[in-house]
Amino acid sequence: MGLKRKAEEIANIIEKQEKVIIVSHSDADGIAGASIAKKALEERGIDYEIKFVKYINRKFLKKYRERENFTWFIDVGNGNIKEIKELQINCVISDHHFSNEEYDKSLNPFFYGIDGEAEISASGLAHIISSCLSTGDANIAIIGAIGDLQDMSGKLIGINREILLSSTIDIKRDLRIYGRDKPLYQMLAHSSSPFIPGLFKRYKNTIAFLKSLQIPHQKKWNELNEEEKRIVLSSIIKKLIEKGFGYNYISSLFGEVYEIDGKDVRDYSTLLNAMARCGYSRMAVDVCIKWEYKKAENILKEYRNKLNKYINFAKEKIDEYGHVQYFHGGNYIADTVVGTVAGMIVKDGEVHSPVIAFAENEEGIKVSARAPSFLIEKGINLSKAVSKSAKLLGGEGGGHRSAAGAIIPKGMEEDFLYIFNEEIRNQLTL
Ligand code: C5P
Repeated sequence: MGLKRKAEEIANIIEKQEKVIIVSHSDADGIAGASIAKKALEERGIDYEIKFVKYINRKFLKKYRERENFTWFIDVGNGNIKEIKELQINCVISDHHFSNEEYDKSLNPFFYGIDGEAEISASGLAHIISSCLSTGDANIAIIGAIGDLQDMSGKLIGINREILLSSTIDIKRDLRIYGRDKPLYQMLAHSSSPFIPGLFKRYKNTIAFLKSLQIPHQKKWNELNEEEKRIVLSSIIKKLIEKGFGYNYISSLFGEVYEIDGKDVRDYSTLLNAMARCGYSRMAVDVCIKWEYKKAENILKEYRNKLNKYINFAKEKIDEYGHVQYFHGGNYIADTVVGTVAGMIVKDGEVHSPVIAFAENEEGIKVSARAPSFLIEKGINLSKAVSKSAKLLGGEGGGHRSAAGAIIPKGMEEDFLYIFNEEIRNQLTL
């Protein structure tokens, strides 16, 4: 059976329900997925409720079973199939995170030979299911996929591409930096994906950099002529090479960009992500469906300010443990952004090892792990290392090769570092 047949099967289950509880991940992809699901259920006249979660685990599911009816898990669930089966939770799952655990009411792309890290996101899966119930929403699905960085290779591929071609999104070839319609110094200083060493958050440096190239810093990328664009681009590439960034990272600077009404799709997904990280996921669903992105721009500012403060704090605290660098955000860095902070530190180019970040939360200690791309190319798998280390300490975790997270009991941070460091050492010597 193919992915689309399975999606039909799941849509058939959903359409028989009187009420559906959507439980989705509070990030851009999860918000986009929940928005698509909400639209489909509304169009079919099915009652619904939306709940956002940072993650789900056994404790959550145990409590959940007593209270809830039929659930549609979006962007979460694949890591908890055993418990879902054991607790006989009445649900369907559309999650793109890797799992080889069989479940007959799950739309798991990996079972159909589709890479859930690059070829389809959770919002894409929600769109495919919703397309069987009503019209779906390809534009929102692509905003989710971009929010999940599924275009890392330079363009959307696989089912993402099919969804893109069925959307009304314009495809162009250009610099893949957020804010091409903003003054150049802002575009460069704000860019975190790709991250430009020496310029990130350094406005004076960025203005001086542009001055040295004789490019007015207030000009927008979209207003530069071809020669000016070439000068800026080659200077950025030079900076990245000097800092040791690899071919894959550098070549991802230029590629396909996607626009809706002349606005970069990344602008939309960045806003959704900022809203999620600041605790406004519910409001983000409305922003997404009603296309009210203007309303959310002040939240983006709030998010950037927070991030700035956290990065400075983390840089002061960062320390070494064997093959690993780590910092503890305590109760200062919110658990929702500690992973982003770790990612920024890795992208800064100063760190050449995996970074572990800790932060306190209501369940214990949130762990986030990030690693530079050259280590991922060498075979480092953070998801494996984090989930193994967390499990040994009575916690739970998972994620992706280059970005993983876990919850561990309070006071176990040093034990975690010990086990994780051993695991990384093993991975490096294999
Ligand atoms: O929270 P953070 O951004 O560090 O998460 C990185 C990845 O780790 C995400 O894909 C998330 O789903 C996964 N994760 C997990 N279990 C957790 C926390 C995060 O699988 N408890």
